[in-house]
Amino acid sequence: MILRILNEFAIDVMSIPNVNDLLWYVAQKVVGKLEFVDCVIYTSNLEETVLTQAAAMGEKNPFGRNIINPLKIPFGQGITGRVAQTREAVIVNDLLDDKDYISDAQPARSELCVPMIFGNRVVGVIDSEHPEPGAYGKAELEILTTVAAMTSAKMELLEETERSVRRYHNLVDSHLQITKEINSRKALEAQLFEARKLEAIGRLSGGFAHDFNNILTVISGNLELLDEVFSPRDAEVVDCLNAARTASEKGASLVRSMLAFSQRAHLDAEIVDLRELVESTLLWSKRILPEVISVQLNLSEATWPTKVDRSGAENAVLNLIVNARDAMPEGGRLDIRTRNVSVAVSDVADRRLTLEPGRYVRLSVSDTGTGIPENQLQQVFDPFFTTKSASEGTGLGLSTVFGYMQQSRGTVTVESKSGEGSTFHLYFPAFLPE
Ligand SMILES: Nc1ncnc2c1ncn2[C@@H]1O[C@H](COP(=O)(O)OP(=O)(O)O)[C@@H](O)[C@H]1O
Ligand SMILES: [Mg+2]
Repeated sequence: MILRILNEFAIDVMSIPNVNDLLWYVAQKVVGKLEFVDCVIYTSNLEETVLTQAAAMGEKNPFGRNIINPLKIPFGQGITGRVAQTREAVIVNDLLDDKDYISDAQPARSELCVPMIFGNRVVGVIDSEHPEPGAYGKAELEILTTVAAMTSAKMELLEETERSVRRYHNLVDSHLQITKEINSRKALEAQLFEARKLEAIGRLSGGFAHDFNNILTVISGNLELLDEVFSPRDAEVVDCLNAARTASEKGASLVRSMLAFSQRAHLDAEIVDLRELVESTLLWSKRILPEVISVQLNLSEATWPTKVDRSGAENAVLNLIVNARDAMPEGGRLDIRTRNVSVAVSDVADRRLTLEPGRYVRLSVSDTGTGIPENQLQQVFDPFFTTKSASEGTGLGLSTVFGYMQQSRGTVTVESKSGEGSTFHLYFPAFLPE
């Protein structure tokens, strides 16, 4: 009979998922099926110095699961404390004779207390009291000892499971951490490489543009002289001169772009209200935007002033508008927004932005166009990078914007996905006198 109950007990215990449920189940079974009138289970702390009441069933706690103020007993104190310390089960036949007995509201007369041991640890004790003296004998001791052994084994198993789960989670966490670090390192290297490349190209073309500019000045100066010398005009000569002049103007504009992306442009900083700048740029660029493109402005009232070269800023905005237009041949929406942003030291440390920490006005131009494939995202700022035909694109727009923004102590960033449109952000340093 008892054996069957213990068997059933062992099987039930297997499926219990946590220590708390386990202890309550044991207390219930000891009092119910095994016919003890009372059962209190204590668990010990890791240091094995204190027992804490964890589950109790019986007259003293008829409702179960209601331990509000769990009793704590130091190892060595009282009968339970002594059992925990000596690791020996105890049967007390008459508590009135026991000097260790700590009586509570309803004093009992006999007590049986067994330790729960696993490995070399005392994980707790199971205690049962009885109102009659001499209630416990060898049979009860054996039953409770068996119950204690099964319970502590299961406790150990659950703790081990919990430890494995924790270890697993730690492992997953550190794997994620490492993946993140590797990715940010890769991104950092790519960014560094791009920055170096642009720097090198800039240095090279900057020197070249300077010399070339001088040559162009000589050419255009001489063209003007020739214009005066050859009058009255011969039609053929006029055509030649015009062609030469157009070419030298193209050359001059090329040189300007090169100087801009090599960050050697001549910039005149003045206080600029970017809202007003966007509105005026749009006004005269309206004719380059077809009807099928709708324009939406979201220029924050409180936009901080900036101090930058005005025509450079207009040129940058215009470049972004033209690119957005080219990306939406079937039409779409062009969105221009301004927002005040504070760049924190942490943003800079993360290398999310190559900016000094501080306050900036972010001017964003979004389109609903073709988007940019991931592998071209960095390249778009390279001088002469274009996906347009020779007659449509020079590939100098964004590199000029990049150079200008860097030289103005701001920057330009891009967010885009193939097929999902693009957003270019221009960061202008805010001009906020203390
Ligand atoms: N808004 C945009 N949407 C999609 N692609 C863009 C956008 N802006 C720039 N690009 C890509 O970046 C390239 C370089 O732009 P840019 O430097 O202005 O030169 P260009 O316009 O002369 O080609 C473009 O050819 C295009 O592939
Ligand atoms: Mg362009």
